[in-house]
Amino acid sequence: MSIFDIAGVNPTLVSRLMVELDDVSTIFDRQLASDFPPVNTLSVHVGRYRGKMLRPTLVLLSGMAVDESVVDSSHYHRTIGAVTEMIHMATLVHDDVLDESSVRRGGATVNALHGNEMAVMLGDYLISNAFHLCSTIGDPNLNLRLGEITNTLCEGEIVQLHNRENVDLDEDMYLTIVTNKTASLIGGCCELGARLAGADLKIQKALHEYGINLGVAFQITDDLLDLTADQQELGKTVGRDLDMGKLTLPLIRALRDGDDQRQIAALVRDRCHAQLQERLQDDGWFESARETAMDRVASARRWIGDLPDNAATTMLHLLADAVVQRRF
Ligand code: FPP
Ligand code: MG
Repeated sequence: MSIFDIAGVNPTLVSRLMVELDDVSTIFDRQLASDFPPVNTLSVHVGRYRGKMLRPTLVLLSGMAVDESVVDSSHYHRTIGAVTEMIHMATLVHDDVLDESSVRRGGATVNALHGNEMAVMLGDYLISNAFHLCSTIGDPNLNLRLGEITNTLCEGEIVQLHNRENVDLDEDMYLTIVTNKTASLIGGCCELGARLAGADLKIQKALHEYGINLGVAFQITDDLLDLTADQQELGKTVGRDLDMGKLTLPLIRALRDGDDQRQIAALVRDRCHAQLQERLQDDGWFESARETAMDRVASARRWIGDLPDNAATTMLHLLADAVVQRRF
């Protein structure tokens, strides 16, 4: 399922977004093009990761929600869309090294195909190009804001690494990690889309908070899929969180409030995927995490309740609902 298959989305808006996203892809590819074939080989490979383009879509939609006509003429929205996608790609390439993952979007990861050294360098090339591309707009405030966001997502990832194998990880710390490593960039996309459309600070904040809540719901769902989904269907390596000692919401709750917490901790320690999956399902911890994700979706939607009533705002509402039902 893609973002554009969500039921109820306005088809005219979808056609418009597709044209805009084509431009985003062109900017992205042009920026990464190198005189050196080995660099291009890696960039082409990472192009395959570019599936749903959620982040550029949010930049564009947030701009359109504020002012329906603005994005048609806004090269800045398309450029920032490409920048945010490049930052996202950099984090995925590095994340697959950290998680020792071998499959993403149904194909081999860069680290699996070319080794960790190449993957680290490709991530660096992407992040460096993202900031170079952003600088072409000539507004230092954009670089400043995106720099804050990349600092935050690195902090989230470092705190997560620090807590590997920590069976005492609490829910607040888990939520801080997912807010920082995932939601910060999604919130930034919405905020910058609004800012580039001339929105006042109140609306920029509303869209930022929409994106933060959407991002947390997205990552809770991503973590649930890591525990429950079929690898073939999901298109990426599953079960990595447990393998790498990363505790996520259903497990954190089972370890804090469940029956027989010592037995659950032993199942975590011994990486007993199937038994844990059954326990978490039977004891309602998957459902409990899903409800938290849905609460975040409801918060996201409340934050944009006062935006102009147009097709882009409607799509932001539909997108929020879709992240918890996602197969994308
Ligand atoms: C996905 O987590 C990971 C992130 C959203 C952030 C990763 C960030 C870094 C590795 C820091 C690198 C930063 C820069 C600026 C290059 P996940 O493992 O839960 O998701 P997955 O299931 O898609 O692998
Ligand atoms: Mg990962």
